Amino acid sequence: MNAPFVTFEGIEGSGKTTQVRLLSDYLTVKGISHRVTREPGGTPLADEIRSLLLSRREEFVFPETELLLYEAARAQHVRSVILPALSSGQAVLCDRFYDATSAYQGHSRNIDGARIEWLNDLASAGVSPDLTFLIDISPAEGFVRISGRGSGPDRIESESVEFHAKVREGYLRLLERHPGRIVPIDGTLSADDVFRRVRETVSARLGW
Ligand code: TMP
Repeated sequence: MNAPFVTFEGIEGSGKTTQVRLLSDYLTVKGISHRVTREPGGTPLADEIRSLLLSRREEFVFPETELLLYEAARAQHVRSVILPALSSGQAVLCDRFYDATSAYQGHSRNIDGARIEWLNDLASAGVSPDLTFLIDISPAEGFVRISGRGSGPDRIESESVEFHAKVREGYLRLLERHPGRIVPIDGTLSADDVFRRVRETVSARLGW
């Protein structure tokens, strides 16, 4: 049987990356073998695609182009990192996965959901998360957090508040469709309080 696959989702500034790190530290202390990765990225080629996707550019990037680049990065990442880790018994913690495509390119960029699902399925080679944390904050709060970061916003971060509000709405729709897999957590809580919930959930669901 494959080891557990856990993903973290949320709009920009939700604090999910901090939670991935906290969970990884916790698993390390418990001696649970795991691998931490992220999307887009996780392999040299997928990291190059990430730079293409996130760099700000003069040329308009069409939603379909964006979608295919995210899926291309995923196809590479799943086959060279996620699948081998899971099948060798290593758990995988992934900062974003295909729910991000449904929320960003599907709901917010308005690409037909059935097409997104087909491509998600192709790219992910049948791998689906056992558990997904949705760290939920308002776009306004997300903006405040991103602006405090110092580095300028990337191409997606610099989209409008309306865009990010639609992404959040997309995530909340996914939550309605997959209530058993997706666990929402209020991202306005302190990082420690969010992590307490993460820990309670992984303990109840995965025995960690
Ligand atoms: P990150 O900054 O959280 O690592 O995510 C990179 C950006 O890419 C973020 O703005 C969300 C976006 N994204 C998509 O639009 N579609 C996707 O499928 C993924 C994985 C990320």
